[in-house]
Amino acid sequence: MDVLEIRGGRPLEGTTRVYGAKNAALPILAATVMTEGTCELFEVPNLEDIHVMLDILRHLGAGVKRLGQTLYIDASHITKTDVPLHLMRKMRSSIFLMGPLLARFGEVTVSKPGGCVIGQRPIDYHLRGMRLLGAVIQEQHGTVNCVSNRLKGTSITLDFPSVGATENLIMAAVLADGETVLENVAREPEVVDLANFLKTCGAQIEGAGEDTIRIRGVHHLKGSTYRVIPDRIVTGTWMIAAAATQGSIHIEGCEPLHLGALISKLRDAGTKIDIDGDQMWVRGPKQLKAAEIRTAPYPGFPTDLQAPMMALMAAAHGSTFIREDVFEARFKHVGELIRMGADIRVDGRTSLIRGVEQLSGAEVEATDLRGGAALVVAGLLAEGTTKIHGLHHLDRGYQQLDTYLRDLQADIRRVESEEAGMSMP
Ligand code: UD1
Repeated sequence: MDVLEIRGGRPLEGTTRVYGAKNAALPILAATVMTEGTCELFEVPNLEDIHVMLDILRHLGAGVKRLGQTLYIDASHITKTDVPLHLMRKMRSSIFLMGPLLARFGEVTVSKPGGCVIGQRPIDYHLRGMRLLGAVIQEQHGTVNCVSNRLKGTSITLDFPSVGATENLIMAAVLADGETVLENVAREPEVVDLANFLKTCGAQIEGAGEDTIRIRGVHHLKGSTYRVIPDRIVTGTWMIAAAATQGSIHIEGCEPLHLGALISKLRDAGTKIDIDGDQMWVRGPKQLKAAEIRTAPYPGFPTDLQAPMMALMAAAHGSTFIREDVFEARFKHVGELIRMGADIRVDGRTSLIRGVEQLSGAEVEATDLRGGAALVVAGLLAEGTTKIHGLHHLDRGYQQLDTYLRDLQADIRRVESEEAGMSMP
């Protein structure tokens, strides 16, 4: 098992280019199973979660070819409608196959995803929505089987603007009979990207990016050519890391309009950010200031950047409250940050971070993807060496993390854990 070794204290410098968003690419890949013909998708990141999704598409019978960051998917001859347990276990986003397979073939069987370290993560909104669209659902022995004749358009109001449920229901509704109105939906850029992709395939969708989405069902979707949006969470991670290290970086190929909440908080903390189209220049201050954070559905502060932001605030001047309002248990990184010298108290969904003069490098373990990113930020700003275990979590969402950061002058390398000279207790 590899370990990430970071010698902290070096400012990030230079230019980096952002790749396509994992969270946009995953539902788009799932949606290709509804299309007849080839889909050519640009800017699909080379990440573990994407590999699992491609394995699922191959299992279903789709043709899959990758050339660099471009993927060619031909789902014309899909024969199966089940997502096997071993692939479902590897990635929660396999649930995205539910809507598309049900819509095109009238049947789907998936294993029920379990909870994970950031919360219980039920799929009740997905299931309720599919039922309202006319599916008959049986949950037995850990699997969920949905069947229907052609789905029928209806009105569905979500209890909470869940990203995954919004995406799954859009996919189910595009091939349903008649009009579907989805209310209280997620407005995340990844939802809009999925809708835009589906529209290039012939779907009729209005209102993506707003509270209410209207979909008029069509009979067929065709293959199309589409470019996935830049990853706003990766962009945000580089911005936070630059701010943390008093660095000065130039980010190309990003979408600043998707990062309003982060940009405003980083500016509050003293970071200088200049924007020109799809480029940003980020310069960290000598002394960071505390900035209150409350996570919320888009356009609020993204829960996926809460952990890296906490690492930044751990070394800011003053005290910060962070309130996590999207997932109920997304503070698993706190214990590891404390090992690095941070002063953090957690009470339910709120944490109080008292900024310390300096974090110190330590041996730590990533327990989830974004919690791992927090440890990277902490390692970059800490004094001394940080060794991060559990790299498979980071590999799910950051393409060649060490290479990208080394290109920005970070002292970081991936080593075999024996070379690193230890194993975690
Ligand atoms: C997606 C993102 C994830 C991000 C999250 C919130 C992908 C692949 N993942 O996850 O990176 O952190 O949005 O921005 O795009 N909920 C229910 N019942 C449901 C569905 C959700 O109670 O049926 C709850 C969840 O437990 C959570 C909240 O709703 O507390 C938000 O979850 P949701 O927006 O669905 O997150 P994901 O789509 O799983």
